[in-house]
Amino acid sequence: MTSAENSLPRPRRFAPAGPLRGTVRVPGDKSISHRALMLSALAVGRSRISGLLEGEDVLATAAAMRALGARLERTSPGEWQVSGVGVGSLLQPEGALDMGNSGTSTRLLMGLLASHPLTVAFTGDASLSKRPMGRVIEPLSLVGADFTASPGGTLPLMMRGASPPVPVEYRLPVASAQVKSAILLAGLNTPGITTVVEPVPTRDHSERMLAGFGADLKVEAGPAGERVISIAGEADLRPQDIVVPGDPSSAAFFIVAALLVPDSEVRVENVGMNPTRAGLVEVLRMMGGDIEEDGVREVGGEPVADLVVRHSPLRGIEIDPALAPSMIDEFPALFVAAAMAGGTTTTTGLDELRVKESDRLRVMAEALTDAGAEVDEREDGLIIRGTGGEALHGTDGVAIATHLDHRIAMSMAVAGLASERGVEIDDTRPIATSFPNFEALLDGLAQ
Ligand code: S3P
Repeated sequence: MTSAENSLPRPRRFAPAGPLRGTVRVPGDKSISHRALMLSALAVGRSRISGLLEGEDVLATAAAMRALGARLERTSPGEWQVSGVGVGSLLQPEGALDMGNSGTSTRLLMGLLASHPLTVAFTGDASLSKRPMGRVIEPLSLVGADFTASPGGTLPLMMRGASPPVPVEYRLPVASAQVKSAILLAGLNTPGITTVVEPVPTRDHSERMLAGFGADLKVEAGPAGERVISIAGEADLRPQDIVVPGDPSSAAFFIVAALLVPDSEVRVENVGMNPTRAGLVEVLRMMGGDIEEDGVREVGGEPVADLVVRHSPLRGIEIDPALAPSMIDEFPALFVAAAMAGGTTTTTGLDELRVKESDRLRVMAEALTDAGAEVDEREDGLIIRGTGGEALHGTDGVAIATHLDHRIAMSMAVAGLASERGVEIDDTRPIATSFPNFEALLDGLAQ
């Protein structure tokens, strides 16, 4: 259960507050935090994790790993110790696994458990219960797992893990790191070689971390340049010390805010710059954004930098759909930047945005229009005619509907700071799923 389900909505008006100046340190990467907990729970012995994101989505994964028999202990903020049980030795959970708002927890755990002889019920909040699970049910059925899902292939669903599981070779029909990871995780407890063919590269945190834990994983190039990823089961994972780098998807809101609010200069520390995640920075630079990288280094096997971002006039561009997977969660923030750029920004190839925590094309088109932007919604993208640097008008008397989607709430908060009259959000509670201290950090930057 998420905080957005067991308390009253928390509306807030985000008002313009002068230039943003100072330093923020972004919390741990959500994708990497989920994977760190899952793999630690499968290693034999004790792993240590530091910099873990303690947002509700990751805590849903932590609760699930406990219910499956691993011992997890929070020793101080962001520092966790996990005593794993070994691949194949997870226990039958007593109740349903409540995944809250988290698609990543759900799809990765379905994969992980599909090759274990367990019967598991998955439940989630109203947003998660609308999201398509058919994309993981299909390959995991080939592994031998059996599913009873709600109509449309959604949660709540019941899964009976395969016994014995069958190794598959599966070509991804959608560019999805969650589907890729689900199959690789199923491969951990499957005898033989499990292979995923990925025509369009997506975030590669699972591959990096599986190799770090000692799994026998290979990444090769296929005949048409596809990534062919294979993993040998039944794997023995060795416990690790993991440092989780900062989340570029959380950094996105500060980067866009600093670019849009006049006279701002913000240093965003600890930003993961894995090339499979860094598309937003590339696109904002093409639009004219002044974003400087400082202190490039490696944290936990991932490239990380501090970014110095200065207010910049932006120009609209046509965004190459090939960049979409490397910034798939950053489009709501990018749409806000486009709304204040000079000229038109055109996006295409973004059908996947319709099946995120909300339909992010429809919801952002409505939200930005309510705030005074000029937006056309197309089937697979938005066309946004920017103000040329003028502040958006803001909302008068309407509250932006966030639809249990943290990234809509944070993006429209940024739009509020860059508006004339402020933007009212109907509910800030969903922000806690990925970025519990977002409002405190944002408020701390205002002069
Ligand atoms: C994620 C993959 C992406 C992303 C999500 C996290 C992951 O989803 O949108 O926030 O951790 O693997 P898809 O794989 O559905 O694109």
